[in-house]
Amino acid sequence: ATSIAVFGSSQVMAYEAGDIMVKAGVIHVAPKDDSGFGDVKVKSDTQIGLTGTYMVTPQVGIELLAATPFKHSIEVNGDRLGTTKHLPPTVSAQYYPMDPSSAIQPYVGAGLNMTFFFDEAGAVKGSAAGPLSDSFGLSVSAGINYDIDDKFLANVGVWYIDIDTELDGADETVEIDPIVVMAGVGYKF
Ligand code: NI
Repeated sequence: ATSIAVFGSSQVMAYEAGDIMVKAGVIHVAPKDDSGFGDVKVKSDTQIGLTGTYMVTPQVGIELLAATPFKHSIEVNGDRLGTTKHLPPTVSAQYYPMDPSSAIQPYVGAGLNMTFFFDEAGAVKGSAAGPLSDSFGLSVSAGINYDIDDKFLANVGVWYIDIDTELDGADETVEIDPIVVMAGVGYKF
């Protein structure tokens, strides 16, 4: 009887075209260590992440990733140069290979990231190098949704985002190219 109930409820949990999933959780941005600008290091940060997914078909979704602003310390040769904040909205097309009735839904995605740096402080702001330029780049992502019931789900997602910026006047590219990891819960409308 138990297994019948499980299969019965999984029918209800089917992914359908027009579904909207909203997820919230903890999100961590870890820039790659060896950025190209001398010994510039951009430190990692953790914030609140938010994603919204619209299912175009039962197996294809469009996802928007947003978060509260990340604040990163920037170090050059071990000295703290200053801080910058950024917003990393990323739009991805996703593919869900499993049967739409499965409670476990892994997915892969590819998309476009727009990163806006602002509120720069310390030498980042005051130096001749000036502020960081905005970045537009590609992203790839993967994740797993697990349906807790027909409305709530648990999720882990990972993005690799190509974020390249320039310190104005320095004529050098800083490759931030972070790994972004989010773990959270979602609600399906
Ligand atoms: Ni890059």
